[in-house]
Amino acid sequence: MPAALKEVAPDLLNPERQRALEAFRRVRGETEHRAAPLSAEDQAIQSMPDASPTKWHRAHTTWFFETFLVEPNVANYRVFDERFAFLFNSYYVAAGPRHARPKRGLITRPNAAEVAEYRAHVDAAVEQLIFQASSAAWPEIARILEIGLNHEEQHQELMLTDILHAFAQNPTDPAYDVTWQPPKFAHKGGYVDLPEGIHTIGHQGDGYCFDNEGPSHRVLVGPVKLARSLVTNAEWLAFMNDGGYANPMLWLSDGWATVQAESWQAPGYWRERDGAWHQLTLGGLRPVEPAAPVIHVSYYEADAFARWAGKHLPTEPEWEIAARAGHFDDAFGIVWQWTRSAYSPYPGFTACDGALGEYNGKFMINQMVLRGSSLATPAGHSRVTYRNFFYPPARWQFAGLRLADYAERYSLT
Ligand SMILES: [Fe+2]
Repeated sequence: MPAALKEVAPDLLNPERQRALEAFRRVRGETEHRAAPLSAEDQAIQSMPDASPTKWHRAHTTWFFETFLVEPNVANYRVFDERFAFLFNSYYVAAGPRHARPKRGLITRPNAAEVAEYRAHVDAAVEQLIFQASSAAWPEIARILEIGLNHEEQHQELMLTDILHAFAQNPTDPAYDVTWQPPKFAHKGGYVDLPEGIHTIGHQGDGYCFDNEGPSHRVLVGPVKLARSLVTNAEWLAFMNDGGYANPMLWLSDGWATVQAESWQAPGYWRERDGAWHQLTLGGLRPVEPAAPVIHVSYYEADAFARWAGKHLPTEPEWEIAARAGHFDDAFGIVWQWTRSAYSPYPGFTACDGALGEYNGKFMINQMVLRGSSLATPAGHSRVTYRNFFYPPARWQFAGLRLADYAERYSLT
């Protein structure tokens, strides 16, 4: 940034640009805050193809701003390093060729300090835009800036899920932060009724949303009873002690194949030590707390548990309608909750043109929707219409479940 620009005090900006500047600095700062406990060695590791190194997340989110916001809008912008577009493009085919995802952990250069310089370089260019963009250009700049900030917040969650998976490969059970404490949870138990009715789901009105949250549309749901609370570790232990992981009748065919291939006997990161179950958390290895919500289970496991319990997983419309009505405890901030809804486009959904149209739409196949948010989701990034999605075997996310009960509807008595 030219030196003169640094003399422009933020309070001389109009309120909208001032808010944009504050949001930009807050989100970019949170990424660095999350990376701070990690050494350069920690930041380079990739423990599986689905997980990315911390350093890559820090650089990729920067590339996103450089490519989609700065380059199209800043005349004479000097790209920090021409080679970074290849290294740090994730999946945007329209933005050019890219490095193979499973090999991100083999990139030791640029090092972590150079990635910090890259971030500072692009930060200065974005701030220059916020200060100097013409009022004619501003609305589109503000739109892309908001997408970039929400994108970076998604990667902030992935930074924690991915480093926990990396630490889980280490027999010494490293801690991300020894002082980390799990979020408080409520467990009142019981079920709430969702009577039969036609409701509107999906995002409408003001406020940010990703494209996959619309169009809003009407759905018929119910009658169904939905669990007020999340499934707990104690309930999961009952499933395990009843042979849940050894009974093929409880599992979808693909799920049973995964149980056998992966030798699953418990949720992700559970370890038996001295005859008691422990789990690797962001705070290191801790005893499994029976009353706490179960975490790090796949769709396959959630589905098998529901079948064992004589229940089902809710659909995403059921989840959204009940959450909007305030029926749930712990809808947000503990675990993402698997639904039995496939990740499909809502009626009338079309992705926008260009590279940013690749953001969500092309992934609407073979994945399942999770609702809510988790302990790793950044503050302010949760919405009742938010659609998260992962492949059915994935369990390195902070994912759990709540149950649905249709017994009344389908009772033959
Ligand atoms: Fe990304």
